[in-house]
Amino acid sequence: MFLKNRSSILGVDISTSAVKVLQLGGSADRFQVEARALEPLPPGAVTDRNIADPDEVGNAIRRAVKASGSSAKNAAVAVPTSSVITRTVPMPSDRSTDEIETEIRMEAPRYIPYPLDEVYLDFEVRGVSDSNPDTLDVTIVASRRENVEIRQEALEAAGLKATIVDVDAYAVENAFGVLAERHPSIRPEHRVAVVDIGAALTTLTVIQNGTTLYTRDQTFGCDQLTNNIGETYGLSREQAEVARRSGDLPEDYGSTILVPFQQSVLDQINHSLQFFTSASHYSSVDCLLLIGGGSLLPGLDAFIMENTGIPTFMGNPFEQMSAARRVNRNTLMQEGPLFFVACGLALRSFDHS
Ligand SMILES: Nc1ncnc2c1ncn2[C@@H]1O[C@H](COP(=O)(O)OP(=O)(O)OP(=O)(O)O)[C@@H](O)[C@H]1O
Ligand SMILES: [Mg+2]
Repeated sequence: MFLKNRSSILGVDISTSAVKVLQLGGSADRFQVEARALEPLPPGAVTDRNIADPDEVGNAIRRAVKASGSSAKNAAVAVPTSSVITRTVPMPSDRSTDEIETEIRMEAPRYIPYPLDEVYLDFEVRGVSDSNPDTLDVTIVASRRENVEIRQEALEAAGLKATIVDVDAYAVENAFGVLAERHPSIRPEHRVAVVDIGAALTTLTVIQNGTTLYTRDQTFGCDQLTNNIGETYGLSREQAEVARRSGDLPEDYGSTILVPFQQSVLDQINHSLQFFTSASHYSSVDCLLLIGGGSLLPGLDAFIMENTGIPTFMGNPFEQMSAARRVNRNTLMQEGPLFFVACGLALRSFDHS
């Protein structure tokens, strides 16, 4: 969003559990995954989606870029959705982009509750307003400088230049657009809740006709599952993670830990959907798209579908993409839902606006 410049851009998702880097090539007709890597982060390096330890994060980015084999020098990162302020304002539809920009800089103090020298400002023309065909809806996005600068510094430490600083929610919207275009069961007019079950946070984003209607974070994620395993069976965090992945767990794991966790995921989704419906005039969504590490839990999608009665799919953005020779296609298919945000960021290489 904030700093535009186009060439091949590496998407860098700095999240709680890992740094994920992704480079896409090909064309909008058929994207190709050119490079990818996932580099775990130690606990505490990123908390509440904020970089707490820039050195650890910079090192992890450097390792990820190396492991991916990418030689891209430009990168797109995102600031957390909850850290930006957005306001959608009407503008006469005959304004040029330059005129809109000038007007926004003048008007921004009315909308943004921070001194202008403390924020980065950007805007996106969302299209003709529903309520008045003579006006355009323009969304102003403001992020505090420190949120942008700490990400630029982490990338610089890894030899990359942050040419685009996006917002998590827009990255999700972008990746969703590409996935939905090719998805056999999703139509543009469908109202879809993208549910990102991460390590620390679960985010629900409702999208329809390419536009985000609603987004909500909850402090809940897979870390809870790992912690429960650790506490119940007396394992360290690392041991618990290894045991969960290998499936090497006592017989009562399913009934005492996994099923209650699935039930918690369901409760979180229902809760966020209730917030969405009460904040809008919509009564429900047409389908759910599960992404993030939590979505990879075997059987979770079926459990959610059965208990919500809403068609539920896994969000794998790589399904319709090809893979460069150095990229292992099997790994790519398994980890697709983990790379959803990174994919939205990497797609910035193809922006023409
Ligand atoms: N194959 C898998 N099956 C189940 N869980 C997995 C799998 N792979 C990773 N996870 C879990 O998913 C979590 C990581 O998911 P993800 O990468 O989406 O989180 P994140 O983006 O780092 O976190 P957040 O979005 O909260 O900042 C970890 O807790 C990890 O244990
Ligand atoms: Mg995440």
